[in-house]
Amino acid sequence: AQVLINGEIVTRIDAKVDIEDRAYQFGDGIYEVIRVYNGICYQLEEHIQRLERSAKEIRLSLPFSAEEFTQQLQELVKGNQLQEGIIYTQVTRGVAPRYHGFPSDDVKPQFVAYTKDLPRPTAFMEHGVKAVLLEDVRWLRCDIKSLNLLGNVLAKQKANDEGGFEAIQHRGDIVTEGSSSNVFLVQEGILYTHPASSLILNGITRVKVLELCEKLELIVKEQEFTVKDLLDADEVFITSTTSEVMPITQIDDQPVGPGIPGPLTVKLQQEFVKGF
Ligand code: PDD
Repeated sequence: AQVLINGEIVTRIDAKVDIEDRAYQFGDGIYEVIRVYNGICYQLEEHIQRLERSAKEIRLSLPFSAEEFTQQLQELVKGNQLQEGIIYTQVTRGVAPRYHGFPSDDVKPQFVAYTKDLPRPTAFMEHGVKAVLLEDVRWLRCDIKSLNLLGNVLAKQKANDEGGFEAIQHRGDIVTEGSSSNVFLVQEGILYTHPASSLILNGITRVKVLELCEKLELIVKEQEFTVKDLLDADEVFITSTTSEVMPITQIDDQPVGPGIPGPLTVKLQQEFVKGF
């Protein structure tokens, strides 16, 4: 397979990273996961814009322009003849002797990208999946798509340990987001999702779903809701690049509503697939 490293396409085995890369030592970098459908990058522009935003928030200057990133990532997808899968891409603050403060300006950010075949999780999307609840112990800048993912890693593992697909996090009573997804609920025909504050990543799929709600004339409120609201909801679903609109039919040991994907969830799933 081909991969991208600092603007060059090389074979996987020839892409080497340094043991003093700041991502390796500090998680000092940012990333994106981009869907590829039928050989085409889905919402690539939005992902690159978010990468630029994340870079700005951690005071990292990106090594390429949006146009250059676009062209390189598209070339990578073509080179690997990827049809259905993802691009993983990250930028780190570069290689320097370990010291917490930023390295000097001559240290260049390190950019890599690779592709992976990944089918759409259609069976899970059809039947729904289980989620588990846990306290959100992450830092207060979850709006940055940073490589520091230990809180998310521990959350997902708790879900996996308990036979769940995703972990839904809450700060105190307020539900924030999944370990790698955003959370929506439906109560009496109205949709709710956490506002795009610094406590969640503003998912590109989340924003797409908000747009679809508008198109379908569904009422959606970007408003905080509690764990109790979640457990009492008629429908719950999560959104992400890899999971699209994924029904949550069980939370811990309790079914959500009647325990099957709800009508608005299914409607949004159907609308979502029309977009690619
Ligand atoms: N995760 N919240 C968190 C913490 C995430 O990591 C993600 C994405 C999302 C959803 O964002 P989007 O709709 O833009 O994919 C929300 C990616 C897929 C990942 O880390 O694999």
